[in-house]
Amino acid sequence: MTHRLRLGVNIDHVATIRNARGGDHPDPVRAAEIVAACGGDGITAHLREDRRHIRDGDLARIQAATGLPLNLEMAATDEMVEIALAHRPHAACIVPERREERTTEGGLDAAGQHNRLAPIVSRLADAGIRVSLFIAPEERQIEAALRLRAPVVELHTGEYAHAEGEQRALELRRLSDMAALAAKNGIEPHAGHGLTYDNVQPVAAIPQLAELNIGHYLIGEAIFVGLEASVTRMRELMDAAR
Ligand code: PXP
Repeated sequence: MTHRLRLGVNIDHVATIRNARGGDHPDPVRAAEIVAACGGDGITAHLREDRRHIRDGDLARIQAATGLPLNLEMAATDEMVEIALAHRPHAACIVPERREERTTEGGLDAAGQHNRLAPIVSRLADAGIRVSLFIAPEERQIEAALRLRAPVVELHTGEYAHAEGEQRALELRRLSDMAALAAKNGIEPHAGHGLTYDNVQPVAAIPQLAELNIGHYLIGEAIFVGLEASVTRMRELMDAAR
């Protein structure tokens, strides 16, 4: 039987709206509490170098607010490693980060950056943090994750989400093949980026995937239907696809 697919909800954009006015409303902690109450399996937050959404002070508050595991998305920098070690989230997902990008645009080049990533992965792992690498669905990146001994990879679904027709089918195939390759090698595959009600189901149907991380669409939908309703609907679609 296919195991249940976990849903990690990325609450960054609650903080984006909060920061637009510089005050403390809407509070991402309240979003985390709602996610916990309506069946989300984890909270994901990306502490960016420029602090454009989640801020340092949010992390401990998010961790204290719910019993859900926190998946901290972070760049591979000394500053972020220190913050991760101080907060000890359940998981740390290492992502590429460029200041000028609107969102995380591509996967981490785990293959090209082995020497830079290796000490970071070990320091996080030694602290008991489950390390995940946000990579493109490519064989050489899975192989690099294996060499780095990362227990988890998150496959970047952006190319799939933006493609249409035959190209989308091709991208889905890549995700499915790489999820299978990761699982075969003992790496737990996750996926995320750009997922919506319309495109989530073919990804959710990939049997090896253990977790999806979804943010922008859920928070955007929440403006119209509320966060509980948007998370609940996504959960239903994911379950129906399994
Ligand atoms: N997973 C990772 C590693 C990400 O960087 C992001 C975006 O911050 C997401 C998932 C969620 O993507 P989206 O906001 O497009 O759902």
